[in-house]
This record gives sequence, C-alpha cells and structure tokens, in this order.
Amino acid sequence: MRTPNTGLNVFETILARRSVRSYRHAILDRATVGSLLEAAVRAPTAVHEEPWAFVIVQDRQLLHRLSERAKPLFAEEVRRAGLERAGHAFDAFASPDFDIFHDAGTLIVICAKPIGPFVAADCWLAAENLMLAACAMGLGTCVIGSSLPALNLAEMKAELSIPADYSAIAPIVVGHPGGATPATPRKQPLILGWH
Ligand SMILES: Cc1cc2nc3c(=O)[nH]c(=O)nc-3n(C[C@H](O)[C@H](O)[C@H](O)COP(=O)(O)O)c2cc1C
Repeated sequence: MRTPNTGLNVFETILARRSVRSYRHAILDRATVGSLLEAAVRAPTAVHEEPWAFVIVQDRQLLHRLSERAKPLFAEEVRRAGLERAGHAFDAFASPDFDIFHDAGTLIVICAKPIGPFVAADCWLAAENLMLAACAMGLGTCVIGSSLPALNLAEMKAELSIPADYSAIAPIVVGHPGGATPATPRKQPLILGWH
C-alpha cells in the first residue's frame, strides 16, 4: 500500500486539489491504485450499502477508443441540453487530437447497481475521497463526466467488464501531473440562513 507523502493535512489537501489536465507518461502501479481504492471505500455510505464497484483502465488503446467513442456522444448531449451557449470550451470535442482523458494513463470508473436513491451520492463521495487521497500522494486527478455516455453503452460495458445491471457513475483519471495547475476561483459560500 502507498500512503500519503505530501505532508499536507486534510484541509491543506482540499485546498491543493485541482482538476489536472496534463500528465506525465508514467503508469500508476497496483499498490498505488489499491491505496486510492482503499480511500474511496472509506466514504460514508447510505444504509451501509457500499454499492460501489471499480473498473481500472490502463490500456492506452482502450482509453483512446473510449475517448473517440465518447466525443460525439457527449457533443450531442451538450447540444441537446443547450450547454454550448454556456461559454465552456466544448469545441475541443470536435477535434480528432483531443483526448477527453487528457492523456492520463489511468482511468478509474466508479460503478454501481442503481438500486436506491443514495447510490450516486455514495459513489461521488467515494470519488472525492479518492481524489483527495491522490492529491495527498502528489498525484493529479480529474473527473471525466464527458465519458459517461460512452461508458454506459452496452458494448462498452461489456468490453470493460461492467455487468449490464451496473452503471458507470464517476469516471476519474489519475496520474503524475505534467506541471502545476492553478486554482480555479470559487464564489463565497451562499448562506441562505443561519438561525
Ligand atoms: C461531475 C463532473 C464532471 C466533470 N467532467 C469533466 C470532464 O469531462 N472533463 C474535464 O476536463 N473536467 C471535468 N470536470 C472537472 C471540472 O471542470 C472542474 O472540477 C471545475 O472546472 C473546477 O476546477 P477544479 O476541480 O480544478 O477546482 C468535471 C467535474 C465534475 C464534478
């Protein structure tokens, strides 16, 4: 098992986490991935269901195929939702050179059987645990929500060993950052009441 090595406490780690979109080529070893999964499954879980299951993809060709499959599906979803008007950089999805996984060598997909109202919450809490643990270990992560439509295609699920009755919920790339990523801004917390 690999343990945190940046020396940051939890609060410092929360502040240091970034969505990293540039990675070095080095591949993550099994012990490191094991530590990340150990952190993930320590998340709170409604009625102690522990609904999560994980798929790890490190095969570069498979990641490339998945990215190519995902781009038009996500672009269509963006169009349908009218999001292209929101000012985000969705143009990249039309480029043959764009890798939705930002050239990271490891994709961890948190999956679950959608059996209850809290399954997605459980999986996203596990995702944040995983990302903070990675940050504490000096690794970068990024949620790749744009891969979800492709990940949940029947043929992709079959290829990735995701059973038909499971859904991919939280896809996260992990790797050694290619450089420093500046913090993105946040609004002040909107407090609606304090009674
Ligand atoms: C549900 C979800 C889906 C996301 N999908 C993507 C994605 O497909 N590609 C990507 O580069 N970043 C994705 N992100 C990362 C966000 O763009 C990022 O968290 C946001 O810009 C804030 O930046 P920060 O994480 O560095 O603070 C996603 C984040 C979340 C929570």
